[in-house]
Amino acid sequence: MKILIAGGAGYLGSVLVPKLLERGYDVDVVDLFWFGNHLPPETGIIQKDIFDLTVDDLQSYQQVVFLAGLSNDPMAEYSPSQNFIFNAAAPAYLAYVAKKAAVKRYVYASSCSVYGYTDNELFDETRPVASSYPYGISKLQGEQAVMNLMDDEFSVISLRKGTVSGYSPRMRLDLIVNTMFKNGIRNREITVNNPSIWRPILSIEDATNAYIRAIEASDKISGIFNIASGNYTVGEVGDLVKMAIEEQLGISVRLTIHHKTDFRNYKVSIEKAENTLSFHPNHNVKCIVKNLIDHMDKFQDWDNPHYYNIETLKLLQAKSQYLRTLQEVA
Ligand SMILES: NC(=O)c1ccc[n+]([C@@H]2O[C@H](COP(=O)([O-])OP(=O)(O)OC[C@H]3O[C@@H](n4cnc5c(N)ncnc54)[C@H](O)[C@@H]3O)[C@@H](O)[C@H]2O)c1
Repeated sequence: MKILIAGGAGYLGSVLVPKLLERGYDVDVVDLFWFGNHLPPETGIIQKDIFDLTVDDLQSYQQVVFLAGLSNDPMAEYSPSQNFIFNAAAPAYLAYVAKKAAVKRYVYASSCSVYGYTDNELFDETRPVASSYPYGISKLQGEQAVMNLMDDEFSVISLRKGTVSGYSPRMRLDLIVNTMFKNGIRNREITVNNPSIWRPILSIEDATNAYIRAIEASDKISGIFNIASGNYTVGEVGDLVKMAIEEQLGISVRLTIHHKTDFRNYKVSIEKAENTLSFHPNHNVKCIVKNLIDHMDKFQDWDNPHYYNIETLKLLQAKSQYLRTLQEVA
């Protein structure tokens, strides 16, 4: 089967693509390569903006997976207009051309952030979505647009993921467990901004396994699925990361607790994904920290701007501004 992964050179794609190749799939990645290329050499590479893809470009694929966009709140708030273009319009456009090209399935990278601020209740996929900030709104708009295209010939699966963490060859240190891990090792201190806030945490191994379950699900399956390894308060995540670093590396780490307000608070039920996709997570926070320790020698250049999406976006914008100025002068 031939699969196109849009945004497949990012954090998730750089773990997912090798797994798909290992399972015998023919995988192409279309990407702008903002964070470089860490993909295996067998991957088909298409360096392009999603908006430049045509129906003809998509005709040879059985499935298309959307992993692109501006992937966090700081990026979305830094550039709300680009956030809405890349997170809402891009998945909608790609699903539209994929359907026209007779692609059989479209898998969309949604986010549990669509739930916004909830009252500490366990949310399943039927509960109201109510985010009021650019990233959450745009992820929801993308999801609604692609789900609208679903029919008997075009399966659409949307995976509402918790915050992903763990090691990827395209590393990110701006994700909850990864950030705490870096601060624990580097500063011997983990800061928790609000210990009572709930977050579904998702190990990158479980996350990429969820995509495999979606890609390999029966043709008849479509729908929205919450995906998480477990629900934790941020205070508990801090404790677990501190404990795992102390136990596994013998480093002692101080925990600093603040009580700042947050606009996100949610915990989710993954029962639907368990029952329909056979998604069964098996990597808790301790496993995530173990996975980070196992690969620690590969990302100790802690300040590398590629590890922080917002830093890379600012650099890219400064560069394009510089190139525009050069063109104007010439
Ligand atoms: N990482 C998480 O914790 C998390 C959680 C929930 C949902 N998600 C969603 O999952 C997806 C993947 O997340 P990630 O952490 O791998 O992101 P990432 O930022 O690491 O990767 C995104 C990739 O998309 C590419 N890209 C962006 N816009 C593009 C365009 N218009 N055309 C071609 N390529 C483009 C970038 O070059 C980059 O390689 C995103 O849609 C994100 O919103 C991520």
